[in-house]
Amino acid sequence: MRNFSATGVACANIALIKYWGNRDQELNLPSNGSISMNLAGLETRTTVSFDPDLASDQLSINVQPATPSALARVRVFLDRVRALAGITHFASVVSANNFPTGAGIASSASAFAALSLAATHAARLELAESDLSRLARLGSGSACRSIPGGFVEWRAGEDDQDSFAYSIAPPDHWDLVDCIAVLSENPKQTSSLEGHALADSSPLQAARVADAPRRLEVCRRALQERDFMRLSEIVELDSNLMHAVMLTSTPRLIYWLPATLTILQEVGDWRRDGLPVCYTVDAGPNVHVLCAAADVIQIADRLLHIPGVSHVLKASVGGPTHLVLELY
Ligand code: DP6
Repeated sequence: MRNFSATGVACANIALIKYWGNRDQELNLPSNGSISMNLAGLETRTTVSFDPDLASDQLSINVQPATPSALARVRVFLDRVRALAGITHFASVVSANNFPTGAGIASSASAFAALSLAATHAARLELAESDLSRLARLGSGSACRSIPGGFVEWRAGEDDQDSFAYSIAPPDHWDLVDCIAVLSENPKQTSSLEGHALADSSPLQAARVADAPRRLEVCRRALQERDFMRLSEIVELDSNLMHAVMLTSTPRLIYWLPATLTILQEVGDWRRDGLPVCYTVDAGPNVHVLCAAADVIQIADRLLHIPGVSHVLKASVGGPTHLVLELY
């Protein structure tokens, strides 16, 4: 095989029904299914080149050589691709996010989605979307949801074969926008990877997981019917349940800052005053505030006036992971 390259671009995604905890930590088989929305414009672009002249895999992220732990995670992933394709060459991986580094936007989802497409294409594998999603899941659970476009469901599945994500509505189905109130740009102390492993230590996790099929059904229906009030209730409940599990794990995890709670209360007040708006919070302090496209300017302005908010990123509903042509 000659030197062969490919470049993939993938969006980040925000979970409306959260993934927290694994039944199988090695295979990233989740304790419950999840639903997310791709975030347009918050993208990772990754070029993979398998090269017979390389003596080891190489990885750069945002024009810097990657840390040994990031390189090790990518190397394990490339080994899977090499095994699937029957090749042995090492690869150079060049990856960059177009959203501010350290803005608290999970980059592992867009990173492993873009890497999955670029690496398989560079290795001349043509995978079906479901198989690409399964492969991305092995790199980072939430990455499987960035492979299809629009609003996406990841079915928990029984095993490696049937745990993958698929689109439940295209990007133009509903003009929702995620206004991300950025509070902190510091890296979090406990990664999602470590957090998933702690989920079962909370006595609340079993109840959260047992009720997940109901929440998934309510969320699916609210999306299908574009019912914002129903969506708000289930999205906020689901986020609160995940943070209740985090707070009651051993050791306990507190991802919020004081301003996080202030925003949650404000958003509740705005909705009671008639503004269609709701919140969800991932494994970090920043708050994702969902609203209709028509209300973005007003919501972003209100968020910027809350002490502690440094800036607000805005993302509409994004498309699927795709290849781009590089002109050399
Ligand atoms: C809180 O799939 O990002 O964002 O890649 O192993 O770090 P690692 O985990 P990841 O965990 C996502 C956790 C979450 C909820 C969600 O996105 O569903």
